[in-house]
Amino acid sequence: MRGLFISVEGVEGSGKSTHCRRLGQWLGARGLEVVLTSEPDGTPLGSAIRGLFEKDGGPPTPLTQTFLFMAARQQHIAQVIRPALGRGAVVVSDRYADATLAYQGFGRLLDLDRLRWLNDWATDSLRSDVTLIFDLPEELGLTRARSRNSAAPVDEGRFELEDLRFFRRVREGYLSLAASEPDRYVVIDASGTPEEVFERTLDVLRKRGVIS
Ligand code: TMP
Repeated sequence: MRGLFISVEGVEGSGKSTHCRRLGQWLGARGLEVVLTSEPDGTPLGSAIRGLFEKDGGPPTPLTQTFLFMAARQQHIAQVIRPALGRGAVVVSDRYADATLAYQGFGRLLDLDRLRWLNDWATDSLRSDVTLIFDLPEELGLTRARSRNSAAPVDEGRFELEDLRFFRRVREGYLSLAASEPDRYVVIDASGTPEEVFERTLDVLRKRGVIS
């Protein structure tokens, strides 16, 4: 029996990690085996790869980032996702292949067809059954993310224009992926309280027949 693979995406500050945990708890409370995981750090190797992004010596180039995320993804598939799906579990992954399309493709402007090809190679063409995209205007997402990471009050005027443009491209990238394959992607309005957003998530999953 093949389980169910749900991947969860969104820009910084969209609350996706909180909603992953909630969804995992909700499904677990209904007696399902749930494997809650994430990229790039869903395996020890992936965690080590995430650590490489923080090394001194300058940020990795977009293409270097791509290869690092792909390496983490292949290991994640082999060690965590495929075995769990093989047991019939529900896998909820906080980011997966669409993150590379949105961030390195739409955000950093690398060629989308090549990224798709690399994703297919790294994952043996394993796609998620459903991809939830928690959507929020980039200004709001960055405000939320920064107020979480710093005690200082957040002044939207201080955002670097470059950051805003990058996150706008990422957001628009996710929305355009969703428009191109509406059966697999579910866009969820991530504004409002966590409770409201979670209710919206359950509603849309029920309407799609993913949960009952
Ligand atoms: P987060 O999921 O905790 O927000 O952090 C993951 C960061 O890594 C986030 O900035 C998005 C980025 N990322 C990519 O740029 N490409 C990828 O393929 C993945 C998995 C993550």
